[in-house]
Amino acid sequence: MALLSVRDLVVRFHTQDGTVHAVNGVSFDLEEGETLGLVGESGCGKSVTNLAVMRLLPQPAGRIVGGQVVFDGQDLTRIRESEMRDIRGSQIAMIFQDPMTSLNPVLTIEEQMVETIRAHRDVGTAEARARAVELLGMVGIPQPEKRLKNYPHHFSGGMRQRVMIAMALALQPKLLIADEPTTALDVTIQAQVLELLQRLTSERGTAVVLITHDLGVVAGMTRRINVMYAGFIVETAATAELFARPRHPYTVGLLHSIPRLDAESGEPLIPIEGVPPDLRRAPAGCPFAPRCAWRLERCWTENPGLEDAGSAAGPETGGSTGSAAPHRIACWNPPTADEAAAGRPLRPGFAAAPLPGTALPDIALATPEQAASLVVFTPEGDPLTALPGARGLPEPPDREARP
Ligand SMILES: Nc1ncnc2c1ncn2[C@@H]1O[C@H](COP(=O)(O)OP(=O)(O)OP(=O)(O)O)[C@@H](O)[C@H]1O
Ligand code: SF4
Ligand SMILES: [Mg+2]
Repeated sequence: MALLSVRDLVVRFHTQDGTVHAVNGVSFDLEEGETLGLVGESGCGKSVTNLAVMRLLPQPAGRIVGGQVVFDGQDLTRIRESEMRDIRGSQIAMIFQDPMTSLNPVLTIEEQMVETIRAHRDVGTAEARARAVELLGMVGIPQPEKRLKNYPHHFSGGMRQRVMIAMALALQPKLLIADEPTTALDVTIQAQVLELLQRLTSERGTAVVLITHDLGVVAGMTRRINVMYAGFIVETAATAELFARPRHPYTVGLLHSIPRLDAESGEPLIPIEGVPPDLRRAPAGCPFAPRCAWRLERCWTENPGLEDAGSAAGPETGGSTGSAAPHRIACWNPPTADEAAAGRPLRPGFAAAPLPGTALPDIALATPEQAASLVVFTPEGDPLTALPGARGLPEPPDREARP
C-alpha cells in the first residue's frame, strides 16, 4: 500500500474576482521512502496541492471540494482538526522556501525546537534539548549548544534553512514536503542544502515530495517526477525516463528552456512562449492549447485525461509509484522522439490548429514580425498572447512547408 495516495483532488479558492480553479483532479501515489518531484511554472498549483494534503489551505478562501488524500491508510480530508494537528509535524513535515515564514522570530531556536519535540513526544525538557543539540549538529550547524540560544535572524539564509530541516526531521516524519526549499539561496549553498536533505531523508527512509520550478533540482534528487500545468498533472514518469523521453509538449518546452550538460555547445535555450492560463476560468479544452505547437482541433474543446504513454524503455510493469510505474501523459497529439529533441513538430505539412474561428491562411499570411505582435482574442474578449510559433518554442514548421 502506498504511504500517500492522492485521488482526484480538487481545490478551489472563492475570491471577490471569482473562483480560482487551483487544483483540478490531481492523483498520485508515493511509496515509503520514495522521492517525488513536482514541477511546473509559477501558479500551476504545486503549493496548493501540498497545502491541501496538509490541510493548511489559506482560509477562508481555499477549499478542498473533491477527492481523497489517503495517508497511511487514513483519509486526511475526513479526520478531525485535532487528529490532523497530531499528524502534522510528527508524521508529515513541511519546509518552505522562506524559513522566516515558519520560524517564530521572537523565540530562540531552543525554545522552538524543544516546544515542537515536546508537543509530540512524551519527553522532558532536558531530553528534548539534548535532541535539539544533536539535530543541529546533524544538519551541520557549528557549536550547536551555543547556537540554540540564538534567534532566527542571527542565522544566514542557508543556516536558517538547515535549522528548518532539523526541525522538520526532529520527529522522524514518514513524509517530508519540501516546497522550493532552496530557491532563495545562492547556488553553492543550494547544492549543500539539497545534498543534506537527500542524505538525511535517505538515511531515515523518509518519503519526500520536492516541489520546484527548476527541473535541474529534481533531476538529481528524485526517482519520479510529476509535471503540473494549470492545476493538472500533465505528465508523470520515472526521472530518467522523463528526461530521456519527454512526451508532453509542455515538458518538452520545459526541457528546452533549461541548460543541459549534454547539449551541443552554443545551443540556445528556448523559453516557452505565451502566458500561463487564467485559473479563474475552468478550461474548456486542453489548458496548454493556446501555447502548444502540436495542438489539434479537438484540443480547444476536449481536455485529455492522463493515459499510459507506452515507453521505448520496455514493457510497463504496472503500479503507480516508483521508477517502475508507467509513463503517463495527458495529450491528444504527443511529440515523437525526434520532435521532442527538436522542440517542434517535424511532420511535413503539420500546423497547429488555429483558434476556433481564426482562418489558418490569415495567420499564415502574417510576416514573422506581424505574427510576433499579433494578439488573438478569446470569445470572452480576453487577449491570448500565444499565437503559435510567434517566436521561440513551441514552433510550427516553416510557413513554406504548410499546405
Ligand atoms: N489565498 C489564495 N487566494 C486565491 N487564490 C490563490 C490563493 N493561493 C493560491 N491561489 C491561486 O492558486 C493557484 C495555484 O497557486 P500555487 O501557489 O499552488 O502555485 P505554485 O505552483 O506553487 O506557484 P509558485 O511556483 O509561484 O510557488 C494560483 O493561480 C494562485 O493564484
Ligand atoms: S497537443 Fe493538444 S492535448 Fe496535447 S498538449 Fe497540445 S494542445 Fe494539449
Ligand atoms: Mg508555490
